[in-house]
Formats: sequence, C-alpha cells, structure tokens
Amino acid sequence: MPNNPVLAVHGGAWALPDDMVEAHIRGVRNAISAGWGVLGRGGTALDAVEAAVVIMEDDDTFDAGRGSFLNRDGKVQLDALIMDGATLRAGGVGCVERLRNPVRTARKILTESPHVYFVGEGAERFAAEHGMELCRNEDLVVPREIEHLRRHQADAAPPGSELFSAELNHDTVGAVALDRHGNIAAATSTGGTLNKAPGRLGDSSLIGCGCYADNQTAAVSTTGWGEPIMKLVLAKWTADRVAAGNLPEWAAKEAMNYLEQRLKGQGGIIVLNAQGQFGIAHNTPRMAWALKTMTKEDSGAKVENR
Ligand code: GLY
Repeated sequence: MPNNPVLAVHGGAWALPDDMVEAHIRGVRNAISAGWGVLGRGGTALDAVEAAVVIMEDDDTFDAGRGSFLNRDGKVQLDALIMDGATLRAGGVGCVERLRNPVRTARKILTESPHVYFVGEGAERFAAEHGMELCRNEDLVVPREIEHLRRHQADAAPPGSELFSAELNHDTVGAVALDRHGNIAAATSTGGTLNKAPGRLGDSSLIGCGCYADNQTAAVSTTGWGEPIMKLVLAKWTADRVAAGNLPEWAAKEAMNYLEQRLKGQGGIIVLNAQGQFGIAHNTPRMAWALKTMTKEDSGAKVENR
C-alpha cells in the first residue's frame, strides 16, 4: 500500500525580527510547494528535498545560495549535503564559491560518484564536468550582505565572539521528506556563519551533523550554530533516539535540550521517520518552518508548544 507523503522544511533558527518574518514564511512555503509538487506526482523523497532546497537557495532571504553571509574576505562560501534514507547514499560539497545551487551538485555526487564528498575547486570541477554551469562568486553576493559584513567588522568584535549570537541571522535551510514508496530523505544547505574564516566548514554538509537520513531511523536536518552541532553529531544523535523507539517529536525537543545543556548551542531541527511521524523544535527565539501532509499544511516562525 502506498504511503502518504510528508514534507517539512526549515529556513533558519535565530531571533528573526518581526519585519523579516513574512519573507521567511513566504520562502519556506514556496519550498513546500516545490517539494510537494514532486511528492504529489509520485516522485521520490530525494527529488522532493532537492527541489525544496533549490527554492530556498535561490531566495535571497536565506543564508544559502545567493544572498548568503559573507566570509571574512567578503566572499560567499557554501556547504550542502543530501542523503537518501533508502540506500544511505549521500553527496556533499563544502566551501564552494561558484555554484548557484550547491544541493544540485551534492545530488549529482550522490547519483554519479563513488565518492561522497567534494570540497572547493574539486567540487566545482566535478560540477562543471557533469554539465553544471559555474557562476562568479560576485553573482552570489547581495548588497545587504556587503553592508552586513561591513557593520559587523566595524564593530571590531574580539576574535571568536562572532561565532554565534541568536541576534545574528542563521538562515541555513533544509528539508526532510517521506515519499509514496516509504522512503525518506534529507538535505541541508548553507552559507555558514557571518565573517567566518575562509575555509571554515560548518555542520550542514557533514553527514550526521547537519543532515542525516536512514529509512530505519529518521531523516533529520538542523540549522543554527554549526560548531556545537557538529561536535555533538546532532542529526545522527537524534536519529538514534528515534531508532530507540522514541517519537520524532520527542527526539527533536530532546536534541535541542542536549545542544543547549551540553554545549550552550543554539539552533533548530526537523525530524521525520518512515512512518510519517515528525518533530520540529528550536531553542532560539524563532525558526522559519513549514510542513505539509495529505491532511494538513502549516507554517510559522515559531513552534509554539516547546
Ligand atoms: N549551521 C550552519 C553553519 O554553522 O555553518
């Protein structure tokens, strides 16, 4: 019997100001429309999470693709991962500067490479060799972020203090999906943190940290301050809680408690199992999220029941 599809997306967890809520909600809803279009016609969870994340990478609102934070040198450097819960195949890219849609290259790696992960120029070369157009880094930079970096650097914060503040924008994007065949998948994409050192890699593209999918456990995507998330291998930690028999809703909340209590980390998470049970949680003031099932569609800038 075919499964009822489910799709959830997030667009960053932080102290999202009132005047930015609308753009974020619109962005995550657009991502749901794209991903649901795939699932609705019987497409795979893998295609659905890719389609949803591409929409958010293309949307300047989010810290992914064009419009991302700039690193210390004023460049966009992007990371992304996609993972298939049916086969555990995965594709990831890190520190790429010339890809409009890193998640598309990640998907290409998953499908066509014996390797899992490419970084920097090697990832861009892989993309070009597989027919993907490279862009200029300047094409990914928006004036808002030039000003954002200028102000941040002018504040002359001591080194390291810029790593995380809930007041800073943390708009990493991600998606988890269940398809009619009963398979789950996850994808996460980010421009990382504002003023990061060139070459700094976050959690988003690391398997088990910012993204994970296994039909036997759960599909997970995280957002927030990458360093604590990767130290805790948080996506896999959460999937393991689901494997132990806990509901995704409980595991999502528990992951945020663990992140906060163990390392004072801040962020958000979406979790989905192959039975269609899901969880959405964050320990930041707000997180942009959206969800669609056969019977309901919902979105928000805050999960109220935490
Ligand atoms: N979570 C995104 C990053 O820290 O790079």
